[in-house]
Amino acid sequence: MSAHADQPAEPAGSAANSGPLRRVVLASGNAGKLREMQALLAPTGIELVSQGALGVSDAPEPYATFLENALTKARHASRLTGLPGLADDSGVCVSALGGAPGVRSARFANDRDDAPRSDAANNARLISLLAGAPDRSAYFYCVLVLVRSADDPQPVVADGLWHGEIVAAPRGAGGFGYDPHFLVAGMGRTAAELDASTKNQFSHRAQAMRDLMVRLVQARLIADSTRP
Ligand code: IMP
Repeated sequence: MSAHADQPAEPAGSAANSGPLRRVVLASGNAGKLREMQALLAPTGIELVSQGALGVSDAPEPYATFLENALTKARHASRLTGLPGLADDSGVCVSALGGAPGVRSARFANDRDDAPRSDAANNARLISLLAGAPDRSAYFYCVLVLVRSADDPQPVVADGLWHGEIVAAPRGAGGFGYDPHFLVAGMGRTAAELDASTKNQFSHRAQAMRDLMVRLVQARLIADSTRP
């Protein structure tokens, strides 16, 4: 199915998609996020489909907060597909850089919206800005927003945070983005040196997903697996 910005797939204010979640569109074209989130959601039985597979392109992310960007992305994907929408907005926040790259993490090397995104270029810029910096502490942050429909008045929101520090020399081949330069606090390994299931146990995204699942159970959008 393909969708276009001028052709909403459902009427505004529709009560579509009430009841348990079955098929959800992920408001992202990032393959690393999709892989991690499909694994994290596997126990719920939710089928997570990337917006790209449904013909939806990335929404602009003009805001200064992760939350506003995530909400905009979730509504955009839901509007164009008629499915419940799930968005992750995330990034790495570095103390010595006043919290940058933060919400601009995906486009740190080139801030133009139409510029190709490059993990290698982003990492190179980060490492050059931190040359000689004594304080290399940083954390990954992730906010997740789920909307039942595009105009959902009660988006479900959760977040998570993962502490570490930025190392100049990349290590490891797993993960994506800044992972090879992110030395996880207390683990002595970069995020890229963790196997996928270990990253999915500890990461900012994993923590946010655990938080989200509690909220989805409360909202009766997924079953409570602790109950018989
Ligand atoms: P977004 O698509 O605007 O949320 O951008 C997220 C960006 O933050 C990604 O492109 C990565 O550069 C970075 N990022 C987020 N989560 C991770 C992670 O788990 N590992 C490494 N980089 C991440």
